[in-house]
Amino acid sequence: MERTILMVGDVIGQPGMRALYAHLPMLKKQHKADLCVVNGENAADGFGLTPDLAEMIFSAGADVITTGNHVWQQREIYRYLDEQPNILRPANYPSGNPGHGSAVVAHGGLRFGVLNLQGRQRMWPIDCPFKRGRDELRKLKSECDAVVIDFHADDPQEKEAIAYHFDGQATALVGTHTHIQTADERILPKGLAYLTDLGSTGPDLSIIGFDPEISIQRHLTDLPLRNEVSENPSIIQGAVITFDDAKPHRALSITRIREAAGV
Ligand SMILES: [Fe+2]
Repeated sequence: MERTILMVGDVIGQPGMRALYAHLPMLKKQHKADLCVVNGENAADGFGLTPDLAEMIFSAGADVITTGNHVWQQREIYRYLDEQPNILRPANYPSGNPGHGSAVVAHGGLRFGVLNLQGRQRMWPIDCPFKRGRDELRKLKSECDAVVIDFHADDPQEKEAIAYHFDGQATALVGTHTHIQTADERILPKGLAYLTDLGSTGPDLSIIGFDPEISIQRHLTDLPLRNEVSENPSIIQGAVITFDDAKPHRALSITRIREAAGV
């Protein structure tokens, strides 16, 4: 039987939240999604996530929320990360940090594992995502029928390398963090569905979701001006992955989503 996983790229500020509310229920229905994973690390005005915003993302239809390097910016989320099993922070942060990096969700008679990892190239050098990911995957695969990975990273080479490393071990690995959707979706030789970056869910005419004028001034002046989320109309971006539940580690297809949200 064919199954579908919907992965949604980084939700940016209020415009991203509006896009999610306006569009996610319809997208889930249209694609008959068995599992919906949303990266929420930019929901709080572009920088982190609060418990209230996380609850809103769940109520819009996410089964699991993934995050990344901005997850620590709103301190009120720390306890929530410990208490809510279906919100993740990258698994390769040092042990002892709040939260956890993987979740298991049951739906339609299947158990789905979701793993969140973070890259180290051009980012803070936390624990090795390859080694930590391998350990987490081993554990998840013993508990789950299908596993998907959100690799929150900046460097495309690192993203492709980890995808090939985990090819045959999971159903899909998609990148987040750059907010720019790539057009390289494909199935790797052993069946892993891969896309370098899902893109963001938030303002379309913007610089990675933020006000272009402020970004230009940052470059012209080298002043540490704080980015502000653009208020231009939003799009929702992500990918849909299908697989046959008889062969869960061999994806059938991966299709990008990039749609105007009308808000
Ligand atoms: Fe990020």
